[in-house]
Amino acid sequence: MEVIRTINELKQRVSEAKANNKTVGLVPTMGALHAGHLSLVERARNDNDVVVVSVFVNPTQFNNQEDLLTYPRTEEADCALLEKAGVDYAFIPSVEEVYPEPDTRQFDLGPVAEVMEGAMRPGHFNGVAQIVSKLFDMVQPHRAYFGEKDFQQIAVIRRMAEICGFDIDIVDCPIKREADGLAMSSRNVRLTPSQRAVAPAIHKALEEGKALKETGKSVAEVKKFVVDTINAVDQMEVEYFEIVDPLTMQPVSEWKDSVNGNPVGCITVYCGKVRLIDNIKF
Ligand code: PAF
Repeated sequence: MEVIRTINELKQRVSEAKANNKTVGLVPTMGALHAGHLSLVERARNDNDVVVVSVFVNPTQFNNQEDLLTYPRTEEADCALLEKAGVDYAFIPSVEEVYPEPDTRQFDLGPVAEVMEGAMRPGHFNGVAQIVSKLFDMVQPHRAYFGEKDFQQIAVIRRMAEICGFDIDIVDCPIKREADGLAMSSRNVRLTPSQRAVAPAIHKALEEGKALKETGKSVAEVKKFVVDTINAVDQMEVEYFEIVDPLTMQPVSEWKDSVNGNPVGCITVYCGKVRLIDNIKF
């Protein structure tokens, strides 16, 4: 595996690969890699001749300075994992390399970006669109891989790709979970032992909510059950729980209102100071 720090070098490597008719898969990450990321890499490895993984903690998508400063950075361990996973190029640029000047682009991301994370974290999705569009531009991959834990983010990235005219196959990959059900996340390392012990309550409540739907309960009843169940757990507080259409991301008030397929329940929970997100397909 080669570690690349500059955009010029990255472009050069990718154009060499494409000149040899190789397909290129991109896995954008912010590092602090875990088995969830590695499942994206594995999928990219299976689908493409050349795999590029970017490791970049993108400052423009953080609307909370403390979150940016405390975001785990584990470059050496990340490189060891990527090497072992058979990655060709790890792109690990500096902030100055990616943003030699401030990125002032404002993306018209529309309604998919206005609800849930979009409402709670103003500017977050614009920052995601900025960095992912830059990476798409630099690599112009055949395929790009994103985890479904950030379910709304995938919809936002599809929208960005559509408005920017990127002809890239955006591949969504299932959530990876710990044995006790907690969705894998780079933020999990910030949980104290007692928080880590209670955090699986999120997935458990979502599964129980799904079972309630199957017994005929309404959207409102399932929402109330999930929120009340998690809020009853020590150190946990639900920020939002919405049941949404899987394409438009708009909350539904009746199950049948999810016209683009099975609705998805998207949740954000504070476990102490750590913000955890998860979702379930109903
Ligand atoms: O999901 C993430 O880790 C980030 O939002 C992404 C897509 C790598 C952009 O910085």
